[in-house]
Amino acid sequence: MLMDQFGRKIDYLRISVTQRCNFRCLYCMPKIPFDYVPKEELLSFEEMFCFIKLAIDEGISKIRITGGEPLLRKELSVFIKMIKDYKKDIDLAMTTNGFLLKDYAKELKDAGLERINVSLDTLDSKKAKILAQKDVLSSVLSGIEEALKYDFKIKLNTVALKTFNENELSSLLEFAKSKNIQIRFIEFMENHHAYGQLKGLKRDEILQILSQKYQIFLLEKAEKSPVTLYTANDYKFGIIDPHSHEFCDTCNRIRLSANGLLIPCLYHDEALSIKEAVRKKDMQKAFQILKQVLQNKPEKNRWSVTDNQISSRAFYQTGG
Ligand code: GTP
Ligand code: 5AD
Ligand code: SF4
Repeated sequence: MLMDQFGRKIDYLRISVTQRCNFRCLYCMPKIPFDYVPKEELLSFEEMFCFIKLAIDEGISKIRITGGEPLLRKELSVFIKMIKDYKKDIDLAMTTNGFLLKDYAKELKDAGLERINVSLDTLDSKKAKILAQKDVLSSVLSGIEEALKYDFKIKLNTVALKTFNENELSSLLEFAKSKNIQIRFIEFMENHHAYGQLKGLKRDEILQILSQKYQIFLLEKAEKSPVTLYTANDYKFGIIDPHSHEFCDTCNRIRLSANGLLIPCLYHDEALSIKEAVRKKDMQKAFQILKQVLQNKPEKNRWSVTDNQISSRAFYQTGG
């Protein structure tokens, strides 16, 4: 079992398989040109897999594949199958922008993936084009349809933004409800890479907007997850509210970046590389690094907007 120094059991690994993305969302990486190719040296899937086997043997039971946009990485389904074949009952999920999901849903399902979170911030194609800096909505919606066809468990991620989608929260909720999937509204997390003018809605503002239309009840704080669940009439939805409540005390996760950095916390700049160790197949060394990263995991994140500490780590490198 993997424990950190504050007694938290770490059983969840988020793996960013690429920092490349086919969108340029204003809250994530708006200023990077579309034709930019990062010069990072990627871990191969075989190298990642060596580490994953070790992590699973030591107690990781949940893995989420993230990016950038994970579907841009070639042979992703082969990688997913490698993980699934190693441990049948692993909780394996992916977070995607959905643009390429139509092309990949079937092979992802065949590879053993069961759960997908898709970002959907608006149902207005003009607004989607402004936010992602590309005409994306119809492809994302077809991706969601295709994934539903293959019976994926889907959740929608909606970053709630003032003046941008605040008048759409109930239509987005209705959309999710009509598809029988869960939507989670996310408080915008300020970071140095995002478009500076963006203002997020806080949990209470989201609740206030929704309560104009629905009877809202607090349901439960999902265990070991940043999400808090509510009902709107009879429909269950979530809010991820790092501004409004701290979930560090139940944090169970670490992150691996595409170039091999093992990151103890989303808002913590210290990270250690496993690249050399896995290249040399020195798994004892890789395990030492893993233990060191757990040792470095901070009790609380170093991010607090009231202190004007804006995260310097890019979401497209950590996978959010
Ligand atoms: P599950 O763990 O399966 O429920 O997935 P998730 O909701 O954690 O994953 P997803 O990739 O869909 O992320 C949803 C939102 O939660 C994104 O905005 C992430 O950046 C945010 N998030 C995930 N983990 C953390 C965390 O440890 N701290 C903070 N503050 N936000 C997080
Ligand atoms: N604040 C909140 N959520 C963000 N995401 C990306 N950038 C931010 C941010 N600055 C979300 C995306 C995606 C998930 C991985 O993280 O919407 O669904
Ligand atoms: Fe790409 Fe996701 Fe970042 Fe948008 S939020 S630019 S889809 S990595």
